[in-house]
Amino acid sequence: MIGNVEPIDIFNLRGAMVMEKTIKSVQDVFEMLDAEFRSPEQFWEPFYADRSRPIPFFSNKPDENLVEYVTSNLLSGDKALELGCGPGRNALYLAKQGYRVDAYDLSETAIAWAKERAAAEAQLEVHFECKSAFELNPAAQYNVVYDSGCLHHLLPHQRIPYIDMIHRALVPEGMFAMTCFAPGYGGQGGPESVMNDWQVYEEKSMRGGLAYTEEKLRYILGDRFECVRFRAMQAMEPDDWRFGVPFLWTTLWKKREM
Ligand SMILES: C[S@@+](CC[C@H](N)C(=O)[O-])C[C@H]1O[C@@H](n2cnc3c(N)ncnc32)[C@H](O)[C@@H]1O
Repeated sequence: MIGNVEPIDIFNLRGAMVMEKTIKSVQDVFEMLDAEFRSPEQFWEPFYADRSRPIPFFSNKPDENLVEYVTSNLLSGDKALELGCGPGRNALYLAKQGYRVDAYDLSETAIAWAKERAAAEAQLEVHFECKSAFELNPAAQYNVVYDSGCLHHLLPHQRIPYIDMIHRALVPEGMFAMTCFAPGYGGQGGPESVMNDWQVYEEKSMRGGLAYTEEKLRYILGDRFECVRFRAMQAMEPDDWRFGVPFLWTTLWKKREM
């Protein structure tokens, strides 16, 4: 300390400047790839600002496939994790079925909305928290992991830590259920126009979300998980209490031990 001024550590400062943008680890490669795209918060925060927009999944209804898994006893245990929960419609449904639920989303606005819904709905207890899936490190504690529409917004390289984390988060024989865009949804035309992963980096865009062929999903998930259910989501009538749109896959997977 010189007088009341801290001396600047010139060596560390120069070191930090040299090391910035130096690739030493796989993590550095991931950060470089992330930096090529806008941050997801930039998109998702304004997305949830106006609750009156006619976005189908803004309705507080559970996915029809999730209802099927619960009512057909395809899920077991009582602890669930939801990733990219948005305003919480599926987490709230699982809580009503008796699950202890941890639900995360990177949008503050979506999580505030989810907490309001939980308070309004008979004081449902759900642990809603604003956090990116990449900040989570849960070890073998969940019977169910649910992802409704999060994976298809992740960049291809981000799937690697994401799927690892889900596999680690599940107890033995735990279930991973997931919905995502199927070929033919709005932006990406038919199966022949589904973007391949390299195109995402060439175009620096996911064109609003990646559509997956069945083959690609089985390729990406099949070594870590055994496929239990794989079908298109059923379209639900507007007055149905369940959510359903026909352009999503609904999939259910059982953890394989490695
Ligand atoms: C299509 S919305 C679906 C929301 C909700 N699952 C539903 O179906 O009502 C995708 C959600 O994933 C969230 N998301 C995207 N990337 C995320 C990440 N890395 N970690 C946590 N949430 C993420 C977004 O903020 C957004 O709320």
